[in-house]
Amino acid sequence: MAVFQIIFVLLINIAVNCFGQQWINTNDLLNRRVDHTATALKNGEVLVTGGSEYITLNEAEIYDPSSGTWRFVEFMINPRSYHTATLLSNGNVLVSGGANPGPLSTSEVYDIQTQKWTDSSVMNYPRIFHTATLLRNGKVLVVGGKTAIGVDSNTSELYDPESGNWTVTGSMAQARSEHTASLLLNGKVLVAGGFTSDVLDSAELYDPETGTWRAARSMDYPRMQHAAAVLSNGKVLVTGGQGSGYVKRGEVYDPETDAWTTTNPMNVVRKHHTASTLNNGNVLIAGGYYNTEALTSAEIYDISTNTWVTVNSMNHGRYRHQASTLSNGSILITAGFNGGPLNSAELYSFS
Ligand SMILES: *[C@@H]1O[C@H](CO)[C@@H](O)[C@H](O)[C@H]1NC(C)=O
Ligand SMILES: *[C@@H]1O[C@H](CO)[C@@H](O)[C@H](O)[C@H]1NC(C)=O
Ligand SMILES: *[C@@H]1O[C@H](CO)[C@@H](O)[C@H](O)[C@H]1NC(C)=O
Repeated sequence: MAVFQIIFVLLINIAVNCFGQQWINTNDLLNRRVDHTATALKNGEVLVTGGSEYITLNEAEIYDPSSGTWRFVEFMINPRSYHTATLLSNGNVLVSGGANPGPLSTSEVYDIQTQKWTDSSVMNYPRIFHTATLLRNGKVLVVGGKTAIGVDSNTSELYDPESGNWTVTGSMAQARSEHTASLLLNGKVLVAGGFTSDVLDSAELYDPETGTWRAARSMDYPRMQHAAAVLSNGKVLVTGGQGSGYVKRGEVYDPETDAWTTTNPMNVVRKHHTASTLNNGNVLIAGGYYNTEALTSAEIYDISTNTWVTVNSMNHGRYRHQASTLSNGSILITAGFNGGPLNSAELYSFS
């Protein structure tokens, strides 16, 4: 090995050790699943719902981080995959839409006290590949998605936890599915990219005060199946995904100036990955799909230097998994797909 290679490897190791980070396998989920949801609850546990293991699942299970164990809880009323799950202000979890196998308009709520599911009212539109975002006012904004095979929607609607009702709110200028939605510090919601008849670079902002959408500056790269994370400085990092090819560069949206700034290329290009903001302000990117491969690769966006740092790989390659932030700042990665649905789970810890 040439001297510079040795030095390079040493530098990488020093960088990795500075992060003091590691992946630890925890117990397997009770069900294999992909296209499920995983929601960190207020008591520190994580609720996993639905997804598919070749058939669509209604199985729900909870992870207890103190024992590292999984237990089944009451199953959902409706089997669903590609649905959304949103932690409400009262600690309950709202599940909306998804596929079984066509798009669903039903919603249901897991009550944390009774540990039971209750049918909520139906949405105004069936939806898969939509997003759901908890607003500051306690309502949940559900956006876009497909209402039927090949039909993308520009509609959005609000769930009111007080009444359990869904109400149609403003429509986007652009129909979209497989986009991202991020709650900004000013209470507005930024929606970016996705798909309608083509992959989109457009972005739009929802204002809960007026119930209307307006155009935000478009991204430099069209992308779908990407991942977004809100940074501690209030900006939004959008990563990876697919446009005409895989998108190598991330982009950061500044709500103050309505401008996007591209980042350096990621070390590994990917889609169907996760992006989690860590306690130290950096963002952990885990897994994903590239060129027929389910990736083990993980890397960190360093907010202070605008660079990507490769960190230890996960123990299992996976995509279409979920990442949940635990109360101590560790990230729990659950299930996903790698040749078939997975039941493995692993924790990313750093100090
Ligand atoms: C955080 O909690 C997880 C799950 O209990 C545990 O495995 C991990 O070691 C904890 N991390 C730290 C830094 O304490
Ligand atoms: C919720 O919807 C039902 C049925 O449309 C309606 O009767 C009820 O008044 C609504 N509740 C509220 C608080 O809006
Ligand atoms: C949303 O889509 C519908 C149906 O295609 C269209 O009629 C409507 O004008 C669109 N709304 C906006 C705000 O562009």
